[in-house]
Amino acid sequence: MARKKLNRFDLQNMKEARQPAVWITAYDYWTAQFAQQAEMDMILVGDSLGMCIYGYDGTVPVTMDQCIYHSEAVRRGAPQTFVIGDLPFLSYQVSVEEAVRNAGRFYKEAGVDAVKLEGGGRVSGQIRAIADGGMLVMGHIGLTPQSSGQLGGFKAQGRTAETAEAVIEDALAVEAAGAFAILVEAVPPEVCGIIRERLAIPVYSIGAGADADGQLMICSDVLGIFQAFTPKFVKKYENLADKSIKALSAYAKEAREGVFPADEHTYKMVEGEYEKLTALLEKKTT
Ligand code: KIV
Repeated sequence: MARKKLNRFDLQNMKEARQPAVWITAYDYWTAQFAQQAEMDMILVGDSLGMCIYGYDGTVPVTMDQCIYHSEAVRRGAPQTFVIGDLPFLSYQVSVEEAVRNAGRFYKEAGVDAVKLEGGGRVSGQIRAIADGGMLVMGHIGLTPQSSGQLGGFKAQGRTAETAEAVIEDALAVEAAGAFAILVEAVPPEVCGIIRERLAIPVYSIGAGADADGQLMICSDVLGIFQAFTPKFVKKYENLADKSIKALSAYAKEAREGVFPADEHTYKMVEGEYEKLTALLEKKTT
């Protein structure tokens, strides 16, 4: 029997029961199916799809339409899983109106359960407006890839007392603005632990250690598909890149050698029909 889809209250109860929520990114139908079958509590259709699917250097070029297409596919693959749409660069920064409209597009066109956006205090107006629009919004602080230029690259954040304090201030601002949960990326575990203690809403980690209310990982990292680089916080549970190259090479070799397709991969003509066909063709040529 399919597992019950979680809602925000289930996630809140999990925090209170100290039961970690586990989630993963997915960008397409079949990965979403795998994630649901693996009983992930949530799926993020991250704008990391820019790197993992489209081969961009970062997430800045990703468009709202791309995020919608991928979220629709994920929704179809995982109808019983809490799905979060990730607001891409320039879909919410310009104004609160744009933020609400684009968050609403995720809900109306892709059937998501929540949206996520990057930033702390500086996006509290957008968080408030989206929440006031009746939607669930998750904050994302620490390393925020859409502003990696300002951060000097994809670098860990909050490693000094002063910068850690700024990350904690951001977390408090996100909660005060009405977010239902927050994701903390690439900060030391001590900092994530303080945030978890101070916030009533669930605090999730990606690269922020185990002292959190749950863990997110990028699917292409966990499965060993993404080859461009591997962040320090990634654990590869498989090497599907190697396995895929091996499988594709075996197919190419067999097809070139005429070993594939074999008899069992071909359709059989209905008994006696081949003889009829050759007779027909012969009649036509004489
Ligand atoms: O886009 C994404 O997958 C994300 C993670 C890096 C947290 O936002």
